[in-house]
Amino acid sequence: MGFRDKLFKAVQALTFNDVLLLPGFTTVEPSEVDVRSRATRKVRLNVPFISSPMDTVTESDMAIALARQGGLGVLHRNCSIEAEVEMARRVKRAEALIIRDVVTVGPDITVEELLRLMEAHNIHGFPVVEDDERLIGIVTARDVRLADPSLRVRDVMTRNVITAGEDITLEEAKRILHRERIEKLPIVDKEGRVRGLITMRDITLKGTYPNAIRDEEGRLICAAAISPFDLPRAKALDKYVDVLVTDVAHFHNRNCFEAAKRLLKEVSAEVVVGNIGTYEAAEDCITKLDGIGGLRVGIGSGSICTTSVVTRAGSPTLFAVSQAADAVRDYGADIPIIADGGIRNPGDVAVALAMGASSTMMGNVFAGCRESPGRLVALEGRYYKEYYGMGSAAAKRKRYALDRYSQPSKTIDEGVEGWVPYRGTVADIVSEFVGGLQAAMGYVGAENITQMWEKARLALVTERGADELKPHDILLPGSGRSP
Ligand code: XMP
Repeated sequence: MGFRDKLFKAVQALTFNDVLLLPGFTTVEPSEVDVRSRATRKVRLNVPFISSPMDTVTESDMAIALARQGGLGVLHRNCSIEAEVEMARRVKRAEALIIRDVVTVGPDITVEELLRLMEAHNIHGFPVVEDDERLIGIVTARDVRLADPSLRVRDVMTRNVITAGEDITLEEAKRILHRERIEKLPIVDKEGRVRGLITMRDITLKGTYPNAIRDEEGRLICAAAISPFDLPRAKALDKYVDVLVTDVAHFHNRNCFEAAKRLLKEVSAEVVVGNIGTYEAAEDCITKLDGIGGLRVGIGSGSICTTSVVTRAGSPTLFAVSQAADAVRDYGADIPIIADGGIRNPGDVAVALAMGASSTMMGNVFAGCRESPGRLVALEGRYYKEYYGMGSAAAKRKRYALDRYSQPSKTIDEGVEGWVPYRGTVADIVSEFVGGLQAAMGYVGAENITQMWEKARLALVTERGADELKPHDILLPGSGRSP
């Protein structure tokens, strides 16, 4: 292609702001629209929302809260391997039919040490075991509330522990917990060694969050970010998480592909690869990487991104999704697409789905939630939460995720730092976004996401026309001038 053609034939990389969904004939009411989807080949979502792996967005609290609402959190990797594994363990321990990863204590630690463990693990009762893992008692917050801190656990624990065998059913467990008025039921093998724990709390939670996404053991589904080059991190997380998500700004790179091939052979969790932004990149992922669980798509649209400003390179999320979705369809692949970056409202989600995405990843939206790790600050009577890009100077000070961006980014920042308005709890946001998305899908006439892929048609908005599509020619509160 000549240089002139390069310019004249440049493709239109449209963004969310450039388009509208055209209304279509509908037979469903918005409240009947089904927004269930998939994050990966195997992970089903009840709402198509995923939180970004960023250290001002997703740690355990966010991942727990979002999975309970039917979405998925991706734990960030801007920390040590141990810290990321601990976040994953917390998510997996938050709920379970039978807790397998039971934290036990020995009989000779002091009450003071026990209290410290309770706080560190956020657990209020421990099975007490001898060196050979045999159960000899149980100790709970109630046993130590007024106890002398220097006493040993063996002096305060309950000795006659009610236990159950490994074949117990959930119904039987409920009956025992109720009949004995106990909160915790250790599961032991024939030799009396602890093999699991059933708690009243977990049984109650199952009824509290009917929309939650859980694995076959009743634990919340959890995903975690990795670098494709960090095999030790991937292997350590693989024991706990359902999904590993590569966290690279430009995955379509030979070294990333070689590393991902190795990774896919070494882990049992599903692997989502990205970020990518073109048909060719998706094509290469589909044809060269065996067994990927999903594609993470979009480069440079993130609200905190300066990648495109600094490098003039990028693939806006809307455009990127359409590219990847066509590749997936052309190859008849069953690989869900995650639209990542630039999503501000339910309408953007709807447009991303219309282009073939199965779910949407949001940083900015979830950073404003109570459950995000960023600091809450009050500015002139309003509340905000801290939010910064993973390529910003703030994130890079922590150093662990330095390899997300191109080599020069060690000196050039590819993200900004700032504040987003506080938006309430994850449950509030999810319900607001589900309502908006159902309304958008109702206009399109789509009963579910598959129909959204088939039926949705787009219209282009001109720069001048965009003004008409916002509130206009009206004085909004606070906009008037004083006489
Ligand atoms: P939103 O728009 O939801 O976007 O805030 C979140 C997504 O942005 C990506 N991300 C970055 N991109 N520089 C970038 O170019 C950065 O510093 C940065 N940090 C995050 C990431 O894909 C995230 O999900």
